[in-house]
Amino acid sequence: MSNLQTTYMGLSLRNPLIVSSSKLTSTVPQILKCEEHGAGAVVLKSLFEEQIMADKENLMDNVNYLSHAEAFDYTSVMAQEYLLDDYVSLVEEAKNKASIPVIASLNCVSAGNWIEYANRLEDAGADALELNVFILPANVRVTGGELEKIYLEIARKIKRKISIPVAMKIGYHFSGLANMISRLADEGLDGIVLFNRFYKPDVNIDKLVLKAAPVFSEPNEINLSLQWIALLSGEIDLDFAATTGIHSGEGAIKQLLVGAKAVQICSVLYSNGIEFLDDIVKTLESWMEKQHFSSISDFCGMLCQENSDNPEAYERSQFVKAIVGIA
Ligand SMILES: Cc1cc2nc3c(=O)[nH]c(=O)nc-3n(C[C@H](O)[C@H](O)[C@H](O)COP(=O)(O)O)c2cc1C
Repeated sequence: MSNLQTTYMGLSLRNPLIVSSSKLTSTVPQILKCEEHGAGAVVLKSLFEEQIMADKENLMDNVNYLSHAEAFDYTSVMAQEYLLDDYVSLVEEAKNKASIPVIASLNCVSAGNWIEYANRLEDAGADALELNVFILPANVRVTGGELEKIYLEIARKIKRKISIPVAMKIGYHFSGLANMISRLADEGLDGIVLFNRFYKPDVNIDKLVLKAAPVFSEPNEINLSLQWIALLSGEIDLDFAATTGIHSGEGAIKQLLVGAKAVQICSVLYSNGIEFLDDIVKTLESWMEKQHFSSISDFCGMLCQENSDNPEAYERSQFVKAIVGIA
């Protein structure tokens, strides 16, 4: 029998399959269902910086703070505490009832006030924290360097604030992606999750309005993170986790082969139910048996660029060969 046990950011996981942050992990019964069907860990639904701030502003509308300056401060703090209290309770209850690691998640766009909240998640027992950071690089006056500074500052400040492991979940909108991830590692991050899948707009040409593009991924979306994890996992001293487009045990195996320490799964569980995790675990197990791998470390990273006997397969040269037909 193959042993699926592994480690991710120093956490001991019974297997490398993590249910990624979404509504699937927003309640304790759902988290327990993930555990029952074989998840190695869960990342809780994110608490959003904007959510906290918007809630605070709604509350503030009802306060005549010009005449009650102290009321402004008090209400402002109250509003932030309110949503956070609920989230902290979720972490506490999940930790009390589940035996798999529980990773809290904060979605942020700045190195602002929210960093003060992180301690509360650590105190509530979160095993790790995942920061979903995405700043849409759409402001024509803001340079890539300025945006990168924000990511680095977030990593630096959060690592000073808490002692549980911290991962950052990022997108691919960086002109120097490899260098960026390497500098995030220098700031002390423990893990990197590649790549977040963002909300995208689409167009309804009959009604002449915008609509949302599909919220759920397709299996062919796996290749972007596959390529980057293959390129970087052997070179940068961070634990890599894969997300987007992992819809099967085969997809999970591919990501582990190129160097992911863990794989995060979401869309396929929305369409097939959390029970589908059983299938993914079984596929991984029987593949390992067939290949005579007795543990995850036997094959994790086997096909990353550093270990590959065909390192150029991951780069442009191979593409050029394929396109122009060079043998
Ligand atoms: C309905 C829905 C809600 C999500 N909510 C969050 C969230 O709160 N925080 C987060 O970091 N990612 C969130 N995600 C992104 C997923 O965690 C995951 O990274 C993404 O869907 C790609 O993985 P997949 O291809 O397995 O779906 C959400 C995705 C979906 C479909």
